[in-house]
Amino acid sequence: MTELKRVGVLTSGGDAPGMNAAIRATVRACIYYGIVPVVIQEGYKGLIENNMEVADARTVANIINLGGTFLKSARSAEFRTKEGRLKAFENARAAELDAIVVIGGDGSFTGAMLFEEEHGMRCVGVPGTIDNDIYGTDHTIGYDTALNTVVEAIDKIRDTATSHNRLFFIEVMGRDAGFIALNTGIASGAEDILIPEQEKSVDQFMESLQKSGRAGKTSSIIVVAEGDRCGGVFELSRAVEEKFPEYEVKVTVLGHIQRGGKPSCSDRVLASRLGVAAVEALRNGDSGIMVGIRDQQVVKTPLERAISKHNQIDSHLMKVAQIVSV
Ligand code: F6P
Repeated sequence: MTELKRVGVLTSGGDAPGMNAAIRATVRACIYYGIVPVVIQEGYKGLIENNMEVADARTVANIINLGGTFLKSARSAEFRTKEGRLKAFENARAAELDAIVVIGGDGSFTGAMLFEEEHGMRCVGVPGTIDNDIYGTDHTIGYDTALNTVVEAIDKIRDTATSHNRLFFIEVMGRDAGFIALNTGIASGAEDILIPEQEKSVDQFMESLQKSGRAGKTSSIIVVAEGDRCGGVFELSRAVEEKFPEYEVKVTVLGHIQRGGKPSCSDRVLASRLGVAAVEALRNGDSGIMVGIRDQQVVKTPLERAISKHNQIDSHLMKVAQIVSV
């Protein structure tokens, strides 16, 4: 067992529902194992500005049910510079931190890797992002809640689409990954789903639209991942209006509504498991790794691998989407 006196925890990058549950689990696992937890405000910015304090079990009371992150989050431009990381290290050393648990996505993990490389500060990553684009875990914290939020929103939009015989393009988040689009598209009964992982030309899309018209569909929901390469929802809607003037086309960009709200049960459990796993990994002597859950087991993946690889989109799921939308 590695002896640890003080461990810092921060949230970085885009907030995700369940981050609070992950902070809580990290803080309480530290206390359970006799380590002093230090909570760092606003991600790496808090390290640079020396904005951190010792926490106790009550500091993280009544937050498991809250969305966002009570520590706040930031994408720190200064931490991307060597000078910024040096300042951060000096503050971390003065606060006697032995290690840091970084809850965030790939940008945050890149920062953690550099921090460890340059200053030997031990870091363990916990995957927190709605995008589900981190390798080494079946799901990232926040993804499940975001899926449910999106499906609920699309169900509501479908009421109008059906009542007015309209075609809706709905843009969902995911950066350059299509996990949110594919899964919510299937769950909300979308007529078509456009994701960056699948090569589909605008012409192919138009063909399938014509096909669904011939199949007697009077309204349509098309879920489009923000990273899709068909030109984006506004471009697509213009193209459809031009080609099929009979369609009444609308666009909805769901935006940040997808990142907010109470975390689902599944995200709270995932976050709790991973917060504990991060502290246990540090005690075990690990660093430069991310903890994740694969097939119900805690697994560790080098940070470098977690950010350089993507989980693959399930081709069977794409086939399912095609079959159920005939
Ligand atoms: O990574 C999470 C995410 O919500 C992406 O899906 C999206 O592309 C991006 O963050 C938006 O970032 P911001 O909130 O900084 O605009």
